[in-house]
Amino acid sequence: MVKVFVLYDSKYGNTKLAAEKILEGMMESSGIETEIACVKEIDPGKLADYDVLVLGAPNHMGRPSQTMKKFIDRLAEQNLKAKNVAVFGTYAGKEREDRAVKQLENMAAKKLHSQILISPGLSVRVNGIPGPIVEGELPKCVEFGKQIAAQIKNQTA
Ligand SMILES: Cc1cc2nc3c(=O)[nH]c(=O)nc-3n(C[C@H](O)[C@H](O)[C@H](O)COP(=O)(O)O)c2cc1C
Repeated sequence: MVKVFVLYDSKYGNTKLAAEKILEGMMESSGIETEIACVKEIDPGKLADYDVLVLGAPNHMGRPSQTMKKFIDRLAEQNLKAKNVAVFGTYAGKEREDRAVKQLENMAAKKLHSQILISPGLSVRVNGIPGPIVEGELPKCVEFGKQIAAQIKNQTA
C-alpha cells in the first residue's frame, strides 16, 4: 500500500472541498491508502511515514497562504519519508492567472527536497474571495486525483 496524505489550508472551505475531490479521484485506484487533514489540525511529526504528500493552499496576495508556508517550514524540520509531493491551490483572480501554485511547488521542491509528481500543479478558480468554486473546476480536481494515483503507480511499478 502506498500511503498518501492530503493536507490543505482553507479559510472559507473552497480549498477543503477541492482537497476532498482530489482524494475522491485518488480513491478510485487500488493500492493507495489516503488520509486528509487541515494543516491547522495536524502535527507535522505524524507525517514522517507517508510516501506521498498532497499540499493545497488558497492564494493570498499572490502567494500560498502564510499558514501553508509556516506548515511547510515545520514539515521541513521532520525526517520525512515522502519524497513525492503534488500541489494545488485555489484563487479568485482572472482566469488562468494563478502564480501561487507554482510558488507552492517551488517551496515543496526546495524546502522538502521533494520530487513534484505533476507540474504544473492544479489551480482551482473560485468566485470572489469566499467562493464558491467556479462551475467545471471540481471535475478537474477529481481528474487531478486520478493523475496523482497514476503517477504513483508508474513509480512503484
Ligand atoms: C487576504 C486574502 C488575499 C487574497 N489575495 C488573492 C490574490 O492575490 N489573488 C487571487 O487570485 N485571490 C486572492 N484571494 C482569494 C482567495 O484565493 C480565495 O479566498 C480562496 O481561494 C478561497 O479559498 P478558501 O475557501 O479555501 O479559503 C485572497 C483572499 C484573501 C482572504
